Amino acid sequence: MSDSITSSLQEHRVFQPSPEFSRRSHVKSMDHYRSLWTRSIDDPESFWAEAARELHWFKTWDKVLDWNEPYAKWFVGAKTNLAYNCLDRQIDAGRGNSTAIIFEGEPYADGKPLEIRKLTYRQLRDEVCQFANALKSIGVKKGDRVTIYLPMTPEAVVTMLACARIGAAHSVIFGGFSSQAITDRVIDAQSHFIITADGGYRRGTTVALKKSVDEALKATDLVKKVIVLKRTGESVNMTPGRDVWWHDAIAGQSNDCPAEPMDAEDLLFVLYTSGSTGKPKGIQHTTAGYMVGTYLSTKYTFDIQPNDIYWCTADIGWITGHSYVVYGALNNGTAVFMYEGAPNYPDFSRFWDIIERHKITIFYTAPTAIRAFMKAGLDYVKKHNLSSLRLMGSVGEPINPEAWMWYHEHIGSSRCPIVDTWWQTETGMHMITPIPGATPTKPGTATLPFFGVDAAIVDRNGNELGPNEGGLLVIRKPWPAMLRGIFNDPDRYKKQYWSDVPGMYFTGDGARRDHDGYFWIMGRVDDVVNVSGHRLGTAELESALVAHPAVAESAVVGIPHEMKGQGLAAFVILKSGYSASDALKKELSDQIAREIGSFARPDQIRFAEGLPKTRSGKIMRRLLKEVAGGGGVKGDVTTLEDFNVIAKLSASDEG
Ligand code: WT7
Repeated sequence: MSDSITSSLQEHRVFQPSPEFSRRSHVKSMDHYRSLWTRSIDDPESFWAEAARELHWFKTWDKVLDWNEPYAKWFVGAKTNLAYNCLDRQIDAGRGNSTAIIFEGEPYADGKPLEIRKLTYRQLRDEVCQFANALKSIGVKKGDRVTIYLPMTPEAVVTMLACARIGAAHSVIFGGFSSQAITDRVIDAQSHFIITADGGYRRGTTVALKKSVDEALKATDLVKKVIVLKRTGESVNMTPGRDVWWHDAIAGQSNDCPAEPMDAEDLLFVLYTSGSTGKPKGIQHTTAGYMVGTYLSTKYTFDIQPNDIYWCTADIGWITGHSYVVYGALNNGTAVFMYEGAPNYPDFSRFWDIIERHKITIFYTAPTAIRAFMKAGLDYVKKHNLSSLRLMGSVGEPINPEAWMWYHEHIGSSRCPIVDTWWQTETGMHMITPIPGATPTKPGTATLPFFGVDAAIVDRNGNELGPNEGGLLVIRKPWPAMLRGIFNDPDRYKKQYWSDVPGMYFTGDGARRDHDGYFWIMGRVDDVVNVSGHRLGTAELESALVAHPAVAESAVVGIPHEMKGQGLAAFVILKSGYSASDALKKELSDQIAREIGSFARPDQIRFAEGLPKTRSGKIMRRLLKEVAGGGGVKGDVTTLEDFNVIAKLSASDEG
């Protein structure tokens, strides 16, 4: 197999951080970034030890890193507690009365939200300790796995921190997952406890969480206790002896609960993510390395400053919620804003309304959301004053240059730096990202590696490729927040991540570096298509389509083609005000020919109303391939958000 991926999308715009932003930030220039990065690579142990010394340890390490490829141990011999660092350490530093969490529930009437709650660091510690004692009272012990299936409310954060405080590992399941997903994950994690709610608010209605748990538990009797938070007040069945209300569980519990000194390598959590085989993988993260990696990346990537009000829109059910809503953010003592519901409830101005009312300074969201806002139109944005923003982020998939520009101009008023952060559930922390006061940004690239990260583009044998040669994105040195394995499946860890390229962690992504060394992610390697010998990253084709004024969103997949090996099928969602026509199809094909090359003209262009997505917003390309191939959808669709999309796509116009 040839490893070079043809890359033709050119982007020449460069944006420098403003001198005022740089002057006030932790890393003030490219020289400063380079000297820190060089030190972090030449002497990772002293670099990471220095970062770790900013945190609290019951006992410090004997050795910073023990590396026996592919097995890493960080801060060997140390004892610490991540919940203690996020709470007690802040209180000891004088932040007890500072805001830890600002929460806004979804329900909204008469032009305002019906529920806003604020918790200081001291109040949050009290709630965490009380709930930690409740967990102990139902029998949770150090080393147990606790399943969390909650809406995005402060109790979700309280539960995670309570587990961390007593040394139980959490396994958070996103509230949009079905009962089948709960059963599978409970069984794989061998979890005896579930923390859930009657329901949560989403898009003007409620999601019946407890009902899904009841359904899931028909298929397994592993679970001994279920704690149920009363959130929506809808009626639920409580199984005597097994189910207990949250308010009953905490009644009479003390708000004093000593933090368990955890070994550096004790399991902190398991988080399930999808793999190419379909069976979800329980990604394992341990205590100290994850703590230090998420602490430092939050500090530098988001340039956290004392008066920030920080909002990461991710649900705690994803790694972004774990690392950058909960652990990294609280460990930096910042004020974390949390919103329970949907971005378009009651309409597409909700996020902008929130930013204005709460004076959010740092805003971190996903390209799929940005494209949805672009599609909805500027009227929603224009009604709001977004001048509190000083920094914005993007995560989850490559951000098309056009979406980046829209975000930059209309949300950031051409003033706020954008950090396009590349990382994975497995990496635990940002790996490739701008440092906002230092790195000049270009729309569509995650730019340069974070400190301590030795990222490279290589071929299958691990040989580094030259500028603009597309290849495999690998990490060549261990980093503190790296996954420590796959729960219940130790062999899969080595096979999945450390076998494709000898001696290196293979990310599964294809990418190239430009002449400035910037990384351009081209998508997952299995999303790479080979057309007439040209290997193309589908993300680039999609960006070319989205650059057309009529296109809101697109997905390109490879389909079998007699002559070319693989052909291309493009699914296109139009912005409101545009309609499908053969003339537009021709224009889009010309657009690709212009931006990428004639060889990349799609074989099919299909206009569609929506794309099949997982609940986390990832396009399910496999389903699109099946639709484009004309054979109907056969594979597993349990993670699909909206089943109607598939029916409509199958009937969509093909070219
Ligand atoms: C995959 C990891 C990291 C939290 C959310 C997703 C893609 C992620 C970017 C980015 C281009 C990106 C990659 C990666 N990805 N961020 N900024 N630019 N691609 O976590 O579900 O583990 O997915 O998401 O393909 O490998 P995940």
